[in-house]
Amino acid sequence: MDYNQVLENAKQNMGGRCMVCKECNGLACRGLLPGPGGKGSGSSFIRNFQKLQELKINMDLVYPKSHIDTQVEIVGKTFKYPFFAAPISAVKLHYPGYYDDEGYSKAVVNGCKVSGVIGFTGDGEHKECYTMGISAVEAAGGWGIPTIKPWGVEDVITKIKMAEEVGAPAVAMDIDAAGLPVMAKDKNIGAKSVEDLRRIVQSTKLPFILKGVMTARSAEKALEAGVYGIIVSNHGGRVLDHTPATVEVLPDIVKAVGGKMKILLDGGIRSGLDVFKVLALGADGVLIGRPYAIAAYGGGEEGVAIYTERVGAELRQTMIMTGCQSLCEIDSSALWNF
Ligand SMILES: Cc1cc2nc3c(=O)[nH]c(=O)nc-3n(C[C@H](O)[C@H](O)[C@H](O)COP(=O)(O)O)c2cc1C
Repeated sequence: MDYNQVLENAKQNMGGRCMVCKECNGLACRGLLPGPGGKGSGSSFIRNFQKLQELKINMDLVYPKSHIDTQVEIVGKTFKYPFFAAPISAVKLHYPGYYDDEGYSKAVVNGCKVSGVIGFTGDGEHKECYTMGISAVEAAGGWGIPTIKPWGVEDVITKIKMAEEVGAPAVAMDIDAAGLPVMAKDKNIGAKSVEDLRRIVQSTKLPFILKGVMTARSAEKALEAGVYGIIVSNHGGRVLDHTPATVEVLPDIVKAVGGKMKILLDGGIRSGLDVFKVLALGADGVLIGRPYAIAAYGGGEEGVAIYTERVGAELRQTMIMTGCQSLCEIDSSALWNF
C-alpha cells in the first residue's frame, strides 16, 4: 500500500463526512459537527491551517554534514519523531460506519507503536468512548496516552486509575471539551480551578498533560498546578469559533512557561514542514489529528505507519535543508522574517 492508496480507501470508508480533500484545511467541512469540521463558521480550524502555511523557512546548506537526529524525549520515553497522533473519539458519530472507538484506537496506537511514536486516545459523552481507547492502549502493552474529558474531579481521578492499570506512560485531559456541542449539555463537564487541577495532578505518579491551553495566563496557572506539560490547542477549531490560530498564541506561551514544562501544540499540522515550523516557534513536539484519522480509515495500522513515515521523512528533509542536525538546533532563526 502507498499513501495515495490510503487516501483513496479513506474516501470510501469515512462515511462521506470527511471528503479527504487535497488539502485538509477546514474549508469544505466548515461547521460540519458532528463530522470533522470546525465549529460555527469553521474559522478557528481554517486559521490554524492558514497561519502555519504563512510561515516560511530559511534554507542553509553551508555546514559540516553529519547524522540527522529526529528523536525526542517526552514522558520519560524516547520517540523516533516529535509528533504524535491526537486523541479522536466518538468516531461512529463523526465518521459513521467503518470503525467503533476500539477499532479506531487500535489502528492508531498500534500504527504509531510500529513507527516509533505514540497515539493519544480520547473520551466522550458515552463511557465506552474512554474504555474502548483504554482497551486499545492495554492491547498495545500500555503504548498510548488516554485523554480524559474534564468531568468532576473524582471522576477524572477514577479514569486516571484506569490509565495507570493498563500501563500508560502519561495521561491527559482536554479541558476545553465543554465547548463541544455534544458535551456542552453535560453539567458535569467544565472548567477546573488551579486547586482542582492540583488535586488531579497529585492523585497520580503519571505525568499529567493539559490539552486546550490557548493563553500564557492559562499556561502559567497549569504550571502553578504542577502539570507536566500542556498542549496548545483549540481542539482543531471544534470548541469555539473565532479563536486565534494555535501557532499565533504559541510564542507568548513559550515566553511564559518555556523550559519550565513540556509544550506540545496541535491544529492544522499536516506535514514535516509544519512540524519543523512549530518546533522553530519553541514547542517540544506536536500532535496531528485529522490526517491520522484519514490514515487509519484508509489503511488501518499500516496506513498510520505510512503517514508517520511520510511526515518523518519530510521533517528529516527539512532539517537537512536548514542545517539543523538535531531537534534542539531548530529555533526561530530558521523562520523567515520572524
Ligand atoms: C472527529 C474528531 C474527534 C475528536 N475527539 C477528540 C477527543 O476525544 N479528545 C480530544 O482531546 N480531542 C479530540 N479531538 C481534537 C483532536 O485531538 C485535535 O486537537 C485536533 O484534531 C487537532 O487539529 P487537526 O485535526 O487540525 O490536526 C477530535 C477531533 C476530531 C476531528
